[in-house]
Amino acid sequence: MADDENKPAPEDKVQPPERQYAENRAELRQKQAEPPKTGHVWDGIEEYDNPMPRWWLWTFYITIIWALLYTIAYPAWPLVRQATPGLLGYSSRADVAQDIDSVRARNAPLDTRIASMELDEVVHDPELFRYAVAGGAAVYRTFCSQCHGSGAQGAVAFPSLLNDDWLWGGTLDDIYWTIAHGVRNENDPDARWSQMPAFGEILDRSEIDSVAQYVLALAGRQHDAAMARSGEELYLDNCAACHGDDGLGDRFQGAPNLTNDIWQYGGSLATITETITYSRFGVMPSWADRLTEAQVRKVTLYVHQLGGGE
Ligand code: HEC
Ligand code: HEC
Repeated sequence: MADDENKPAPEDKVQPPERQYAENRAELRQKQAEPPKTGHVWDGIEEYDNPMPRWWLWTFYITIIWALLYTIAYPAWPLVRQATPGLLGYSSRADVAQDIDSVRARNAPLDTRIASMELDEVVHDPELFRYAVAGGAAVYRTFCSQCHGSGAQGAVAFPSLLNDDWLWGGTLDDIYWTIAHGVRNENDPDARWSQMPAFGEILDRSEIDSVAQYVLALAGRQHDAAMARSGEELYLDNCAACHGDDGLGDRFQGAPNLTNDIWQYGGSLATITETITYSRFGVMPSWADRLTEAQVRKVTLYVHQLGGGE
């Protein structure tokens, strides 16, 4: 009983569209001779059974025929091991291989010349030089940028190749040797090699602090003058053999110039103290065994012309 009271009276209900428009629809149906219906009905919507336009059907049939012919002519249907090869024998992989071969064949004489000429002869042959630098840039992007940076600007522990502050020398022959054989790696007997001692085992704490102040002074950085003065003698006794009496470095040993405020590891007091205490061991891979002779020479020419070449 209580339930019935809550139900709305029947006349409050909204009339369904079917009944509201019943008369109109009946009129319409009479006015228009309607096409036949398929008999499908969704929510009161009925489906006409109109034929597809002829142009549409023909386009549809032509695309089917085209697709079938295409799968006969070109590789298409997947089989267990590979797809059907197609009557034309086309393969995108063979296409690319052919392109690569033709570029290689075109460049081979240039690469042979670069591999057999003196490097500074290449520099004086404008066309060959342009080719070499472009090729060297590609080698650089693939094999060197992860350490030396995409613009060769370097990063902490990885020297910039843009400036004329060279650890191991900036002539074409120096750069060539560094790239071909690398630095402090175990797999190339011709790798450049040297080792700064870890002075934590040689000097005491206050001596390291003094000599670190002297390094700051050499670089023209803010420093404690009194400590630097006492650090000078320690420097001459312990460091000058490699870094030079005046701190200009020594390229035979890859000992960096300490006077120019360009740092491989960092020029803060904390970092310099760390370098002196524990030393460093920068490793650069050798490339002679991984790249062709022409590639090593091209990337040498590329690095040399970046700005610091001598
Ligand atoms: C895995 C990292 C790494 C890669 C890759 C690498 N280098 Fe180096 N490279 C170094 C390090 C570290 C040094 C510094 C070695 C040292 O402390 O003396 C260096 C030094 C050099 C130097 C000597 C710089 C100087 O001041 O004398 C040149 C030139 C150079 N790299 C060129 C290249 C080229 C060209 C490539 C690519 C073919 C390359 N490097 C790839 C790590 C790398
Ligand atoms: C046996 C030679 C040798 C001696 C002695 C030596 N060094 Fe070095 N020093 C090097 C080499 C080589 C490097 C580069 C290390 C590397 O890249 O792995 C270097 C790097 C450095 C650096 C890092 C520079 C930068 O750009 O980040 C500092 C600072 C430095 N030395 C200071 C000193 C001081 C101070 C002493 C003396 C207490 C000293 N060195 C003694 C060979 C030496």
